[in-house]
This record gives sequence, structure tokens and C-alpha cells, in this order.
Amino acid sequence: MYKKIEQDINVPYPIYLVNNIYETVKRIENIKVKHRADLFLIYDKNLSVYYDKYINNIRSFCKSSLYIECKECNKNRETVDEIYKFLVDNNAKRNGIVICIGGGILGDLVGFVSGTYMRGIRYINIPTTMISQVDSSIGGKVGYNFNNLKNYIGMFYNPLEVIVCPEFLKTLKRKEILSGFGEIIKYCIIDRDDLLIYFEKNIESIVNLEKDEIILLVQKCILIKRDIVSKDFKDTGLRNVLNFGHTVGHAIEIDSNYKVSHGQSVSLGILVALKLSETLMSLDKTLYNKIKDIYTYIGIDKYYKINNKDNFIKSIRGDKKNDSNIRFVLISTLGKPVIAVKVKEEQLLKVIKESIEGEKIYE
Ligand SMILES: NC(=O)c1ccc[n+]([C@@H]2O[C@H](COP(=O)([O-])OP(=O)(O)OC[C@H]3O[C@@H](n4cnc5c(N)ncnc54)[C@H](O)[C@@H]3O)[C@@H](O)[C@H]2O)c1
Repeated sequence: MYKKIEQDINVPYPIYLVNNIYETVKRIENIKVKHRADLFLIYDKNLSVYYDKYINNIRSFCKSSLYIECKECNKNRETVDEIYKFLVDNNAKRNGIVICIGGGILGDLVGFVSGTYMRGIRYINIPTTMISQVDSSIGGKVGYNFNNLKNYIGMFYNPLEVIVCPEFLKTLKRKEILSGFGEIIKYCIIDRDDLLIYFEKNIESIVNLEKDEIILLVQKCILIKRDIVSKDFKDTGLRNVLNFGHTVGHAIEIDSNYKVSHGQSVSLGILVALKLSETLMSLDKTLYNKIKDIYTYIGIDKYYKINNKDNFIKSIRGDKKNDSNIRFVLISTLGKPVIAVKVKEEQLLKVIKESIEGEKIYE
């Protein structure tokens, strides 16, 4: 059984929410039959540890396969070249289809390669992490890091379809689950409806990854992202709201040399953005404390010690969504994000001190 999330003019591909990995394999088999195309499998190396049987199954429908070691420090030009080479060596033509199975790093890389290889080859994204299921697989942003700048080289390129199977989440390390919660809490804060209420009400089941609650949570997040993207696919205005928590988040990723995960960095960035919102947007102080309490309950770290303040500020200024001013997405109240709020450097440093400054959360 699967649920098909409706297509839309700017999200012109179906997103299938499937119940188990067996159904995922079946969908890929159907794709082979329906399109009569050569399939090229690219998957995250770590998945072989848990899903060897399924990977082998999928491989049997494919002309060839390649695994990639997925680390943020490999999200670069060399890995992009490795994937181009794989496609060239295996004689992939424009009518072929690339099957990507992995988290946000692989999805971003394979999406970029697919968008540029022979001016565009079709690809199917099968996200296997919390972040990739609720966020990165939807919206068509693909790319890689360049010169310590996150996702600086990239494009908008949509997949043929996305197959979301929450069963994959069961084998994620706790750190990766917490990373996913960072992006989910971002949705809870920017969402106009009731995601935060749903999250709080079901927090125990969600933390324990109980199937029904997780499927509903993933679905709710996909719908929020799809609705925002469908109104501003090219990220010229409204879509910026998805950057809530990311301005400081990206700087923490870089300052920690990617030792702090994307979602954990975003969680810290969210605390800074909430504190800034109190100062600049008169946000009621109760929300900050509520979010901090949620972090404590689910085990998200609340503190970070900046290694190099000058570089930290430089990377915030260099963040591609900023010009010479530091601009933030803040909120005036729950569910009401405001984009491009100008923040002075001194204000930011003061608020970092008041919110997240503390001991290192990794070693
Ligand atoms: N394109 C977008 O719109 C967008 C949005 C958000 C984040 N991102 C990008 O996504 C990346 C982060 O994504 P991520 O957190 O998925 O990282 P990731 O791809 O590195 O995956 C995290 C870790 O989980 C492992 N893994 C993957 N699936 C697994 C599974 N089912 N079981 C066990 N282990 C598994 C991976 O090998 C890796 O070690 C960042 O590069 C970020 O910039 C992109």
C-alpha cells in the first residue's frame, strides 16, 4: 500500500509514501517495466550493512551500480566527477534513469549529476534519512559544497519521482535521527497550522520512531515543504522561510569542520533565530523555552563553542542568501516567519552568547 502525494505545477513529480522496503523494490521494478530504460543504481555505501538483500534485488533490475561514501566532506566536485565517470563508463544515455538511494548528501549530488549529465538524465530519489525524507528530496535543489561554502554550486532539477519509505529510518544512528528532528522543529516553528501541537502531543512515539506517528509526521512535513516550494520554486522570496535556523546553522557546520551534523547545526541556529526574534520582532519569550524543553526531552544539544569567531562571521556573510548585511529569517509569532531581517554583527554575537554559547558538543 502506498500514498501518492498529488503533483503540482512546480513540484511536477509524484511523491510516493510507501509502507515498507519491499514495496520500494517493487516500485523500482515497475519503473523498469514501465519505462523500458536502462537503470543505473547509485547508493550510500552504509546501506549495504543493513539492506544488502534489497540492494542486490534492486541491482538485478539495473545495468550497473555504484556506491558512494556519504560524508559532508565528500560532497564535492571529486565525487561529482566519480559519478559522471560511472555513467560514462557504463554507457548511460539520456533515456536512462538513475536510481539514487541514500540521504541528503547523495540526493543532492546525484540530482546535480543527473541535471548536468548529457544536459539532463532522469533520476528517481529514494531518501533514506529523516532529513532527506522530510526535506532535501523535495524541492529540486541539488548541488555540492565548494571552497568551504555549503551547496554553493548547484541548480534546480526535479526528479522523475520520489519514493519515501520511513522503514529506512529504523537503522539510522541516533545522531542522524536527532539531526532530522532539527529540520522537523524548523517546520514546527514556521508552519501556520498545527505541526508543533502534533509533535508535542506525540513526542514519545515520535522519539521511539513508532510507525504510524512517524509516517504521519513525515507526510505532514512533506506537505509543508511541497506547498512552500510550489509557491516559490526558484527561491526568490517565500521559499527563504525554509532557511529559518540555517544562517547560523551553516556557519556552525563549517566552523566545526562538519563534525556537527546539518540538522544539529540547524537546531542551534533555530535557538539563535528565536532569541533574535525576541529582540527584533518582539516574539513572546515562551516559545524559546518551549523549544529548549523539547531539545532537552529528545536529546538535542543546546550549546556550541565557536572555534574561530572571525571565520564564523565570514561564513555567515558568505552564506549565499546574504549580501553585505547579515539577513535572517525570523518570526514575529509561531507560524509567522519574516524573511530578510537585517541584523547587526554585534547584535548577533550578543544573542549567540545569550543563547547557545557553551562547551563544545563534540570531540
Ligand atoms: N537539497 C535540499 O533542499 C536540502 C535540504 C536539507 C538538507 N540538505 C543537505 O542534506 C545533507 C544532510 O542530509 P542527511 O542528514 O541525510 O546526511 P547524509 O546523507 O550524510 O546521511 C547521514 C548518515 O546516515 C547514513 N545513512 C543514510 N541512510 C541510512 C539508513 N537508512 N540507515 C543507516 N544509516 C543511513 C549515511 O551513510 C550518513 O552516514 C546536507 O548536505 C545538507 O546540505 C539539502
